[in-house]
Amino acid sequence: MKLKIITILTTFAITTMNAQKKPYLDTKKPIEERIKLLLKEMTLEEKVGQMNQYNGFWEVTGPAPKNGDAEKKYAHLRKGWVGSMLTVRGVANVKAVQKIVVEETRLGIPLIIGFDVIHGYKTLSPIPLAEAASWDLEAIKKSAQVAADEASASGINWTFGPNVDITRDARWGRVMEGAGEDPYLGSKIAVARVQGFQGETKEDLAKVNTIAACAKHFAAYGFVEAGKEYNIVDMSISNLHNLVLPPFKAAKDAGVRTFMNSFNTLNGIPATGSTYLQRDILKGKWNFDGFVISDWASVKEMINHGFAKDAAEATTKAVNAGSDMDMESHFYVAELVNLVKSGKVKESVVDDAVKRILRVKFELGLFENPYKYCDEEREKKVIGSKENNEAVLDMAKKSIVLLKNEKQLLPLKKSGQKIALIGALANDKNSPLGSWRIASDDNTAVSVLEGMQKYKDNQLTFEKGTDLTVGETTFTAELVFNTNDTSGFEAAIQLAKKSDVVVMVLGEHGFQTGEGRSRTDLNLPGNQQELLEAVFKVNPNIVLVLNNGRPLALPWAYEHIPAIVEAWQLGTQTGNAVAEVLYGDYNPSGKLPISIPRNVGQCPIYYNSYNTGRPVNADKNVFWSHYIDVEKTPQYAFGHGLSYTTFEYKNLKINKKEFDKNEPVKISVEVTNTGSYDGKEVVQLYVHDVTASLIRPIKELKGFELVHLKKGETKTITFTLTDAELGFYDNQGNYLVEPGTFTIMVGGNSEEGLKSNFELK
Ligand code: BGC
Repeated sequence: MKLKIITILTTFAITTMNAQKKPYLDTKKPIEERIKLLLKEMTLEEKVGQMNQYNGFWEVTGPAPKNGDAEKKYAHLRKGWVGSMLTVRGVANVKAVQKIVVEETRLGIPLIIGFDVIHGYKTLSPIPLAEAASWDLEAIKKSAQVAADEASASGINWTFGPNVDITRDARWGRVMEGAGEDPYLGSKIAVARVQGFQGETKEDLAKVNTIAACAKHFAAYGFVEAGKEYNIVDMSISNLHNLVLPPFKAAKDAGVRTFMNSFNTLNGIPATGSTYLQRDILKGKWNFDGFVISDWASVKEMINHGFAKDAAEATTKAVNAGSDMDMESHFYVAELVNLVKSGKVKESVVDDAVKRILRVKFELGLFENPYKYCDEEREKKVIGSKENNEAVLDMAKKSIVLLKNEKQLLPLKKSGQKIALIGALANDKNSPLGSWRIASDDNTAVSVLEGMQKYKDNQLTFEKGTDLTVGETTFTAELVFNTNDTSGFEAAIQLAKKSDVVVMVLGEHGFQTGEGRSRTDLNLPGNQQELLEAVFKVNPNIVLVLNNGRPLALPWAYEHIPAIVEAWQLGTQTGNAVAEVLYGDYNPSGKLPISIPRNVGQCPIYYNSYNTGRPVNADKNVFWSHYIDVEKTPQYAFGHGLSYTTFEYKNLKINKKEFDKNEPVKISVEVTNTGSYDGKEVVQLYVHDVTASLIRPIKELKGFELVHLKKGETKTITFTLTDAELGFYDNQGNYLVEPGTFTIMVGGNSEEGLKSNFELK
């Protein structure tokens, strides 16, 4: 006790002394005043230093590097020319790098330490697209909390997440990183993730187990042309505002402290150099007071885009457009001081950027204690804890979507069945970890085989059938898949022949989606399709468990295979989650956050599409809006997902027929669990503004509720629509709510439901 009092008194005395010497350290002063006081002390070089971020570059706990890039970075750190580092992790490393700037630089401004904590840190949760399939905002928030807890225990205080890019194109590799195709669902999930990482208030951000979040990639990266990575984006202003920006705005309103811009161009201008996005919208209209980080070398890439002729011009354009921190272009640190001296960039622009960066550092409490996230004890205790594993298991179960269940194949019987488990992914402990898993150890996921082996009363036998050989790291450019070797087929076929039911785990490897992983085909890689068909010939009782980071177009499988489970890449606890669902210990409730196309030619396909002038085949000829070789609908629609029980919707009511502007529209519906299991249903509300000054989608999600219903139970669900749900943005970015007829649909997916309508005066 005495020791504690002495420590407190000593800390108080040091703080007071420091505050006298350095008034910006005075915690009694408001943060805004402290920022101004510190800024006054800073040289131009030191200011520019804050705007520079370097990637982790050497074993920081070892001797200082003596080669090239690393040597330069080390020297810059010591001069105070670095404001942030990314990918340095582990208490010992973070402490070492922080010590350099705190002890060796003139002002000792602490670094903010960034990391891609995308779906967990070491204990991995499902890929973000999978989590979105839960439609469970509390669970998603909890998952981000677990990630923040582990990352912060490892010295990290800033994540480059959440990725809030809306996308409609399954070809794009980064589909796995977002929340799918819908801006409404995407906005709700953005808020859950921001609150999970940061906490719900500014004060929460200073806690030791929260980290600053980053809404990325600002903006429209999910709409790269033809789903090709890093491609251009051409998009109307109304689509930008209606589809792309809502999750960013929601993240901003939830208090997200940083934004990351993006690699793509938007209507001819690289997002990194876009004044419209960063100054006019984000910092202007939305009044965002945190800072913007560039994407990796995206300042430099403006030269390749043909938007800047050299480093100086790229720097000028990026900084003036509002890109506050340079990730790994090394341009700001090289150019900005001279650009200010020559008058090309105003010092006030630099000051504004630096203030924003310092603000977040102050809010995190880094000035009070630069080593606050560096507690070895906590690091040992938190990372990989039992509770964290339980939390990611819970999230994993909630993320699974039951696409099809015929012949009552599922749930599997817990005893008395001979089960064949086939497919290389069934025994894979690496792929389920997904694409963003830098801090996890390889091969640490529970495989489906391991998960199913826990159900001991079944006769479970495994045969891989074929191999899925891929490159060894997330950076491997070309992935090699087995296409010719069918030597494992026979064993799998023989096993299937003598089994009651076959569970086949097929799909994409975790390294096959993510950044740089766009595809032109959405099939099963390698010879998995061949294997599936060969096994089907001898035993059609197949439960297909799909592992994938994007929608897969598998028309044959969707037609022939009786039971299909969409199990994505579910992180560390994958096998346990899949097994619990297959054996019925968990009743699946996931719903697709993105449409599954019938074939790749349908991409982009999305539920919130528009009517054309010829939307249906009214005249029974070919002259209507369709393809002649495939049905118009997706294979599985947005919002689709089955349960082991069934639900019935009844008594859809709207409280009135006509509403004044601003008057809330109250909608209610009764939902009954009519099957023989307790279960959860995501009740979805869709709205259509029938006639407007700008054409509106045929339906838009505007409300949902995850409801738990016991067998036979009925609940009444209510929704309220206000101006916030009924309007849209025009091509000037103005929000309009127009009178007229609105139709609504309430149901368990985006294709079918109870319908009604009302008038807005
Ligand atoms: C990605 C970002 C990521 C950054 C740092 C970039 O390549 O686009 O999403 O945060 O790298 O790792």
